[in-house]
Amino acid sequence: MRLEGKTCLITGAAGGIGLAMSRAFIAEGAHVVMTDLASSQLEQQAQELLAADATGATDRLLALVMDVTDPASIKSVYNALVEKKWPVNVLVNNAAVITVGNLLNTSNEDLNRVFKVNVEGLLNVTRAFLPAMISAGSGNVLNMASLAAVRAMHDRFAYGASKASIQMMTRSIAVDFVSQGIRANCILPARVHTDFIEGYIEQYYPGEEESRMEEYSRYQPIGRMIKPEEVAHAAVYLCSDESAMVTGTSMLIDGGVMAGDN
Ligand SMILES: NC(=O)c1ccc[n+]([C@@H]2O[C@H](COP(=O)([O-])OP(=O)(O)OC[C@H]3O[C@@H](n4cnc5c(N)ncnc54)[C@H](O)[C@@H]3O)[C@@H](O)[C@H]2O)c1
Repeated sequence: MRLEGKTCLITGAAGGIGLAMSRAFIAEGAHVVMTDLASSQLEQQAQELLAADATGATDRLLALVMDVTDPASIKSVYNALVEKKWPVNVLVNNAAVITVGNLLNTSNEDLNRVFKVNVEGLLNVTRAFLPAMISAGSGNVLNMASLAAVRAMHDRFAYGASKASIQMMTRSIAVDFVSQGIRANCILPARVHTDFIEGYIEQYYPGEEESRMEEYSRYQPIGRMIKPEEVAHAAVYLCSDESAMVTGTSMLIDGGVMAGDN
């Protein structure tokens, strides 16, 4: 099993990509700490995951409520794991929010909200868990960025800026802590079919659900959206020792968008 002996904490694990990563990590033998703000959804998904898991993972999965914007809530999860003697050696910063808009119709409040969760949240959580990894002499941070970090997408002004920040934060962590046994990488997916997409289509483009979904599928030259489990496969690689020589990298999963014109 590729993640045996590792304890992986995932933020935003109650749905979508975070949930797919939780499933994949459990299947690869990891201890998994699923965390999210959405407490009832988190509890339900953790129970369903255990019910469907074939590896008898009951004693390898914890679901804990944690708001990445709230240092007190992060600290209480940290303390619970210390008490349980589950030292986190893999941290996946996956929680995020989005607002849709360009420079002119993005309010300061929108920008601040997106940066508070996506950027400051990453800082809060990593700052809480990195010191113990450094003391242990090894650790691995995986950040969910987005293709929007490197390719401007229409009406993703605040979100794209937050994801570009995450890409550079990833490189900074990689550079600053490489000599202390820490690796840091990020994944840049194009459009992944999750509630995240369905949610913002419903909020920002009511009545256009079908045409937007078609457009988002066509966006990838391969002709469909990415499945959450396809992102999870990459996460397993980046969080396992198979990628021991990979740090500071940004892994594209984009169905060919960045290959060139088509
Ligand atoms: N879906 C896509 O097309 C896509 C593409 C590129 C990158 N991403 C990135 O992948 C990651 C996961 O996206 P997803 O599509 O699974 O989204 P999702 O909305 O299904 O999951 C995000 C989770 O984050 C949680 N969350 C939000 N604010 C939080 C907070 N303050 N504290 C803790 N948890 C919080 C939500 O409750 C939710 O469960 C995000 O970082 C997103 O930006 C998604």
